[in-house]
Amino acid sequence: MVPNRLACAGALLSLFASFATCLPASAQKTASLRTLASQRKLRFGTAAGIGLLRSDADAGVYRNTTATEFDMIEPENEFKPPAIWLGPDTYDWSNADWLIGAPGQTGWAQANHLAVRGHVLVYARDDGYTLPDWLRKRESTITPAQARQYLHDYIHAVVSRYRGKVFAWDVVNEAIDDNPNSNPYRLRNSFWYRKLGPDFIKLAFQYAHEADPRAQLYLNEYGAEGMGSKSDAVFDILKWLKHQGVYVTGAGMQYHLSIDDPITAGDAHYQNVSRLHAAGFTFMVTELDVHVPVTDPGIGFHASNVADLDRQAAIYREVLQLALNSPNCRGFQVWGYVDTHSWIPAVSPGRGAATLMDDHYQPKRAYYALQQALGAPVTASNGFALH
Ligand code: XIL
Repeated sequence: MVPNRLACAGALLSLFASFATCLPASAQKTASLRTLASQRKLRFGTAAGIGLLRSDADAGVYRNTTATEFDMIEPENEFKPPAIWLGPDTYDWSNADWLIGAPGQTGWAQANHLAVRGHVLVYARDDGYTLPDWLRKRESTITPAQARQYLHDYIHAVVSRYRGKVFAWDVVNEAIDDNPNSNPYRLRNSFWYRKLGPDFIKLAFQYAHEADPRAQLYLNEYGAEGMGSKSDAVFDILKWLKHQGVYVTGAGMQYHLSIDDPITAGDAHYQNVSRLHAAGFTFMVTELDVHVPVTDPGIGFHASNVADLDRQAAIYREVLQLALNSPNCRGFQVWGYVDTHSWIPAVSPGRGAATLMDDHYQPKRAYYALQQALGAPVTASNGFALH
C-alpha cells in the first residue's frame, strides 16, 4: 500500500511540476522586490520595528517578509537617542546588538544579508522620542562645553560600536523649522541649537566621520523634497559643511506624502536632486509612505475610496522612478511596508493605509507598481546604476 501511495503521489507531483513549467510567465510567481531591486543595483529598504522582529510578530510573517522583500533595514525607533542614551556614559545596546551584533559579533541583519542604515544620531527637536529625558531635565545646568562633550561622547560611542556594520547614518534629523525664523538656515529652536548654535550640525558630522570614516553620512529632513525654502536650507547647510571641509554624503529625503503629491519628470523634485548632483551631493529616499483617507480613523487599514489606492500606487512608482532616473541616488527606502504597523494612523487620524501591503500582508497596487517598475527593461533614462 505505502509504496503504491508514494508512487501515486510522485506521479501527481511530477504532473504538477510539468504543468507549472508550462504556465505562461505572467502567471508564475514573480520575484520579490528585493531581488528585482538588486538586479537594478538599487538598495531597497524599509524601516522596521526591532521589537516586532525580536518577538516574531504576526507569527513570524513580519520577520520573513522583511527579510524577503528588502536588502536594507533601518530601525524605526530603536536607534534614536532616547532609546539608547540613558544617561551620560549609560547606554542600552540590547536592541541594536540584537540587530547587528555586539563588537566582534553579528546579528539578525547580517544573518539575513540586510545592510543597516542608522537613524538617528541627533534628532534636532525636543520631543520625548527625539531628545533623552535626562538631557531635557538638566538643560539649565548644562554648559555649552558640556553639551559639546556629551555630543562627542555619544556619537563616538554609538558609531564606533557599530563601525563597519552600519553603512549609512542619518547624522542630523529634522533640524529645519517648518516656518521661517531668524535663525541661520532657519534652524529649529532645539536643545542642541540652544547650546551650540548651528555648530551642532558641523560637530555631529565631524564626530561621526571620526568614528567611522567609511560610513555614508546624511542630513535627513521632511518637507524638503521639492524646491522651496526648506530644501534651500538643506542645500545651504550641505554647502556650508563642505566649504568647511566637513564630510557629508548628501540629503536624506523622507518623502512622507499624500495622494495629492504627484511627481513628474522635470518638476521641482527633479530640479532639487539635480542641483544636489551638480554640487557633488547624493541623496536617498529614506522614509517613503503615501497616506490616503480611511474609513477607520486611528486604525487606518481601510481606504475610503478604492481609486485612491491607484493614485497611491502611481506616487510610489513616481518616487521610485525619480530614484532610478537620478545618477546621484544612493537608495530607496519605505517607512514600513505593512498597514498594520505603519505610524500614520496614530499621528494622522483619518489617514492611513499608507504602505505597500494591507493588514493581511497582501500586496497592494503600490507593491505591484514597484514590482513592475523595477522589472521594466532598463533604458537610457532609467538606467543609472545605484550604489
Ligand atoms: C516615527 C515612528 O515611525 C513612530 O513609531 C514614532 O512614534 C515617532 O517617530 N520622521 C522620522 C522618523 O525621521 O524618525 C519618525 O518616526 C517619522 C518621521
